[in-house]
Amino acid sequence: MGKNKTITEKGHKILVYGGQRIRVLIDEASLKKKVKELGARITEDYTDRDLVIISVLRGSFIFLADICREIKIPVIFDFMAVSSYGDSKVSSGIVRITKDLEFSIEGKEVLIIEDIVDSGRTLNYLVKNLRARNPRNIEVCALLDKEDVPRKMENRVKYKGFDIPNQFVVGYGLDYAEKYRNIPFIGYIENE
Ligand code: IMP
Ligand code: MG
Repeated sequence: MGKNKTITEKGHKILVYGGQRIRVLIDEASLKKKVKELGARITEDYTDRDLVIISVLRGSFIFLADICREIKIPVIFDFMAVSSYGDSKVSSGIVRITKDLEFSIEGKEVLIIEDIVDSGRTLNYLVKNLRARNPRNIEVCALLDKEDVPRKMENRVKYKGFDIPNQFVVGYGLDYAEKYRNIPFIGYIENE
């Protein structure tokens, strides 16, 4: 295995990491720039409002850590964890809350911070579940949105980072079988 190294092949940057090859899709500089932009928009839109940011563990922890420092207004953070059953590359649509919020969101302005929207089922379930708790409103911020995935979304993503092809990605919080979350960019695992 040895140390990580980055190579370039046919114009693609590839990280050789723990015996795997991970092809860069969105590099660190692009992530940083986008996170800054999204943070600035959120700051502007939520100035003088009672903002509660709800983040979904574990995939969004790195995105959250970065974007929250670009949101320059007072905000309360709360966390939920959900798990969807089944194969780890395909979400089953059956969502279960494994950790619930600590605080009431009644009358609050809720912003959900998510890593990625794939089928949209997790988000649909979350929004429905949170709506029942009577917040003032709910919006969604998601770093990644997979293109060309057929879905019926109740809540569109108001603050979106990147549209990406419909392929499985890892890094910047996103895992494959719980690994690769600490890779600082978004990439594809090759030969999987
Ligand atoms: P959805 O319910 O199909 O929209 O799936 C959403 C959840 O599945 C995300 O919050 C991720 O945890 C996970 N997920 C979906 N696509 C990917 C991917 O490409 N890489 C890693 N995790 C993913
Ligand atoms: Mg996951």
